[in-house]
Amino acid sequence: MIEGLEARLRARVLQESAAVAIDEWTEFLNRLDVPFFNYRGTHVTEVVRIAKYLARETGADYDVVVMAAWFHDVAKPGTEGTGRPHGPECAAVARTYLLKEGVNPEVVERVCDAIEKHVGYTRDAPLTPLEAQVVWESDKLAKLGITSMLFHLINGLRYEPNPNLDDILERMRKGLPGLRKIEASMFTEPGRRIAKARMRSYESFIALLENELKMEQ
Ligand SMILES: [Fe+2]
Ligand SMILES: [Fe+2]
Repeated sequence: MIEGLEARLRARVLQESAAVAIDEWTEFLNRLDVPFFNYRGTHVTEVVRIAKYLARETGADYDVVVMAAWFHDVAKPGTEGTGRPHGPECAAVARTYLLKEGVNPEVVERVCDAIEKHVGYTRDAPLTPLEAQVVWESDKLAKLGITSMLFHLINGLRYEPNPNLDDILERMRKGLPGLRKIEASMFTEPGRRIAKARMRSYESFIALLENELKMEQ
């Protein structure tokens, strides 16, 4: 091939398609009347799904766990401020709301305790009581596996837009050490089991994509 031709072809294709992609996405976003993606709503829904399962499997108080799971991030509705110590803030909102709903004040305090303790990404020892550990694990399990991969992929487009498939693969690889630390922080039997399975899914997905990009199918 003529020297430098392929690089020029690539530049031309990427430049032209980028200009059209900007127009198409702008037009699409301008006429959207729903969120492009409701990360917090989707995350919390997943945490509740996992929490219900863990409560049944571990014998933790189902109602306490479910109420705590729904409200664990209530004072953090967006994607900003991740890592902010929002536990007490969320517990305060939950307390007011649940007492108004007529929930027994003792139960409300157990819910608030679990909410307050749900923050942080790693643990060396299990939380007490069991309900707090179950809510903590549910929140963290929602950050593992294909579930987490989809969340990161979609949210990641806001922070680092315009990735190609090599970039996406690289981002997934970069996430692995943090995810392994989360896996090592599970203390209930079902939590460990789910974490292990989700890590396997995540690693398999990386390996499959890697093979496709290397043309090794
Ligand atoms: Fe949180
Ligand atoms: Fe959360």
